[in-house]
Amino acid sequence: MSTSDKAWKGRFSGPTDAFVEHFTASVGFDRRLYHHDIRGSKAHAQMLAAVGVLTGDEAARICDGLAAIEAEIDAGQFAWSVAREDVHMNIEAVLTERIGETGKKLHTARSRNDQVATTIRLYLRDQVDQLLDRLHALMQTLVGIARAETDTVMPGFTHLQVAQPVTLGHHLLAWFEMFMRDYARLSDARVRINVLPLGAGALAGTSFPIDRHLTARLLGFAAVTENSLDSVADRDFLIEVTADAALTMVHLSRIAEELILWSTPQFGFIELADGFCTGSSIMPQKKNPDVPELLRGKTGRVTGHLVALLMLMKGQPLAYNKDNQEDKEALFDTLDTLSDSLRALTELLPATTFHRERMRAEAGRGYATATDLADYLVRHGMPFRDAHEASGKAVRLAMDRGVDLAALSLDELRQCAAVIGEDVFAVLTLDGSLAARNHFGGTAPTQVQAAVERAAARLRALKQVE
Ligand code: ARG
Repeated sequence: MSTSDKAWKGRFSGPTDAFVEHFTASVGFDRRLYHHDIRGSKAHAQMLAAVGVLTGDEAARICDGLAAIEAEIDAGQFAWSVAREDVHMNIEAVLTERIGETGKKLHTARSRNDQVATTIRLYLRDQVDQLLDRLHALMQTLVGIARAETDTVMPGFTHLQVAQPVTLGHHLLAWFEMFMRDYARLSDARVRINVLPLGAGALAGTSFPIDRHLTARLLGFAAVTENSLDSVADRDFLIEVTADAALTMVHLSRIAEELILWSTPQFGFIELADGFCTGSSIMPQKKNPDVPELLRGKTGRVTGHLVALLMLMKGQPLAYNKDNQEDKEALFDTLDTLSDSLRALTELLPATTFHRERMRAEAGRGYATATDLADYLVRHGMPFRDAHEASGKAVRLAMDRGVDLAALSLDELRQCAAVIGEDVFAVLTLDGSLAARNHFGGTAPTQVQAAVERAAARLRALKQVE
């Protein structure tokens, strides 16, 4: 393309090198911002008309022209041009082709620097709202399953060794809590996204009598940025979302890892639905947990984006630098990956079969009630350290005999501690152990039932705030 088509043609006499044109272009990926770019431009034109920089008629023609372009892009009929570099210049150039001289006035009192900062905030705000909806749906699903599993016994693990019995509902609500914090973090990031940078111009503001608060109102921003240099220079708001996304992916990855383990024949706790798995081309017996594995795998990618964005910012002097164009692919892929990952888990969980009998059997096999025996001895006057040792002896005895603690006879148990009485068997059972953990935040089925209802109420409250 010749110099005559560039926005900066006045200063230049030679054309842009063809490779450099390709190297500097972002339209290949930033075109997805067109809705939000057009929205920002319309508000800018309306504001310019309100303060008398444009006539009402000019603003109306600009807005109509932009609406027509938007419809054309929606319909897939817009001809994007790499020579026009990015989404902003593509739209503005076509606007001018369509409506003539008036199109050239849209960029009055604006720079692409504050334009792109505005566009990306508008876009990200919508994306964050969609992610919040996805998180909400996932939490709703977890609460639904937890409600049905408040007294399903399973082994609880530390160091991936059977530790103490818990309920499946309790375990699922642990996942719920992670996502609840993710939701809070993302909502909080939204507050810092929702501020209008437009009016910062290239970096120092503008000599036109703009009304930034009007533009903010038109675009639904809760506030206006305080400093023009900062407005165009920083991308911390999107790094923050990426950090939040990385953390959510880490949560998804941990859950995925559990699902992968639980679906092995060795654990046998769950069966994933066929639709979420694939077979092997060579080993007929295989059913591979592809979806959880991908959740785990995609976590690395999002974490990588976070590091990329942090490195992108670290050496930049104020104010805007072209480096910032590199924020987009990392951000977009982060948002897409997180959204799909949340959706995948939300759809996979209800299609999963939980093998309750197997979970109970495994909880009964790992001496999971040894702590309960120690606690019992403490209640009978033994100091905890001695009780721990006595209970450990009982475990050894049971291991030698190849049975669980509850299967030892009273005589055998008394060899470990003389104070043990007939009532010990009530605490050595899985249900006795669970029922004993009867406090706020504990795994007793009644507590888990209450926790499920609190979780459901917290989800309802989130929707009422909106
Ligand atoms: N495509 C650019 C970006 O993403 C728009 C801003 C360009 N501004 C400039 N002065 N070159 O950041």
